[in-house]
Amino acid sequence: MALNLVMFGPPGAGKGTQASRLEQSRGIPQISTGDILREAVHAGSELGRQAKMIMDKGELVSDELIVGIIRERLRRDDVEQGFILDGFPRTVAQAVALDEILTGGDPLVIIELNVPDSSLVLRLSSRRVCGQCGATYGSSDGEPPSICANCGADVVLRSDDQKEVVLERLRVYQEQTQPLVAFYQDRVTFRSIDGNQSPDTVQTAIVAALDSVLAVVREERLSVG
Ligand code: AP5
Repeated sequence: MALNLVMFGPPGAGKGTQASRLEQSRGIPQISTGDILREAVHAGSELGRQAKMIMDKGELVSDELIVGIIRERLRRDDVEQGFILDGFPRTVAQAVALDEILTGGDPLVIIELNVPDSSLVLRLSSRRVCGQCGATYGSSDGEPPSICANCGADVVLRSDDQKEVVLERLRVYQEQTQPLVAFYQDRVTFRSIDGNQSPDTVQTAIVAALDSVLAVVREERLSVG
């Protein structure tokens, strides 16, 4: 069975950190809509130009645009054994579109990371990223370097990690993304996890949640015949 996974949670919850660890351990691709948009910004494409204005304000790009990107991405061969969506879906309309894209395939597993706003603000204000290759230096990794260890470029504050933009991202999350909990929470494949623990402890909790979800799905399949 393919592992079709959504890492869900507010800005700074650790979606990217945990998705990247799962990509390594499970060998399935992490698909981050934020990274895709930032690559477009870096490349200076028309998509990037439009997205930058929206991202810098902490708003969401249009459902139509982002669903189109995901629809194309999920056609690629490397998702045959599954994928980890990081930052998508973010609205009920995106979630409905994802269900439609996956119709007839293996079930969607949703892991929600819960972290209080106070920790989110702290994490995002202390995060630094490489302006060239995008490498992330987080609060849990100690004092960030000023020069990227990967490529030697400057390490900077992400443009949407400025305090006022972070607060807007949290507001937008409450308004447009939090309703997805009600959309997903009755599914047997939904699990909520305390993300306000060390990255290793969160990872262990995710692995346990995935094991329990996959066991339930297998059992259901056996009982159906
Ligand atoms: P995106 O890049 O997806 O931003 P986000 O959802 O706000 O998520 P972040 O990357 O800030 O946080 P994360 O949860 O991945 O946490 P991370 O692991 O990095 O999107 C950016 C923008 O693009 C959006 O605002 C929007 O404009 C647009 N966009 C993207 N997708 C869209 C969509 N579907 N629809 C419309 N628009 C879309 O960790 C954060 C920090 O905390 C790091 O420093 C990390 O080291 C640290 N950390 C991680 N885990 C822990 C831990 N357990 N303890 C302590 N520190 C930790």
